[in-house]
Amino acid sequence: MIHHPSISAWRTARATPGFSGQRIGFVPTMGALHAGHRALLERARAENDRVVLSIFVNPTQFNDPADLAKYPRTLEADLALVGPFVTDVITPAAESLYADGYRYRVTEATLSRELEGAHRSGHFDGVLTVVLKLLNLVQADRAYFGEKDWQQLELIRGMAHALFLPCEIVPCATVRADDGLALSSRNARLSPTGRARAAKFPETLRSAPDAARAAAELAAAGFGVDYVEDREGVRLGAVRIEGVRLIDNVRL
Ligand code: PAF
Repeated sequence: MIHHPSISAWRTARATPGFSGQRIGFVPTMGALHAGHRALLERARAENDRVVLSIFVNPTQFNDPADLAKYPRTLEADLALVGPFVTDVITPAAESLYADGYRYRVTEATLSRELEGAHRSGHFDGVLTVVLKLLNLVQADRAYFGEKDWQQLELIRGMAHALFLPCEIVPCATVRADDGLALSSRNARLSPTGRARAAKFPETLRSAPDAARAAAELAAAGFGVDYVEDREGVRLGAVRIEGVRLIDNVRL
């Protein structure tokens, strides 16, 4: 595994013969990696010659500065967890990735304003902008994204189509703990009690007869409910517990 700590180091490496004619899989992340990320990387490893992992805590997608400050940064542990599946790791600096001061950005005008977007103003502008920058830098054949972030995946797929990006966007099934809670870097911020209670979230999304009942049951169980909505055969929800915001979705 080669660590490219800057954009210039990565671009120099990317232009070498070692990359030509190779199928390249790409997994963008913000670090604090867990078994869900490992599943993306394992799949990328199985389907490509090289696997590029990016670790970049993207400031433009955080609408709450406290959330950005609290985001875990665990580079050593991350690399130890995923080393076997990765050929290249890029960890760009924010000043280089946003040398334009975020004057240029990607905006989607409809879906990005709903669901998560209605609660996190500007979030998807930040996500789409950083993903486009990273896709341009990596020039991958395939990029892998988890279905847990259903709306993010839809928007990235839409952007790739709308802007004719030469990269296949590959959706990957959500990885869950034994009690059904979707793996997320945020789960680590829950107390043991909160973590045990959090399993009620996916269970309720799955078992309630409709979205309104799911929201009511979650509120009665002590969750702060941002939304529960059914769309395109998927029930999507966002809740807060112990100050930690969790999102999930299940197929109906
Ligand atoms: O899903 C994430 O971890 C982030 O939104 C992503 C896609 C890496 C962009 O920063």
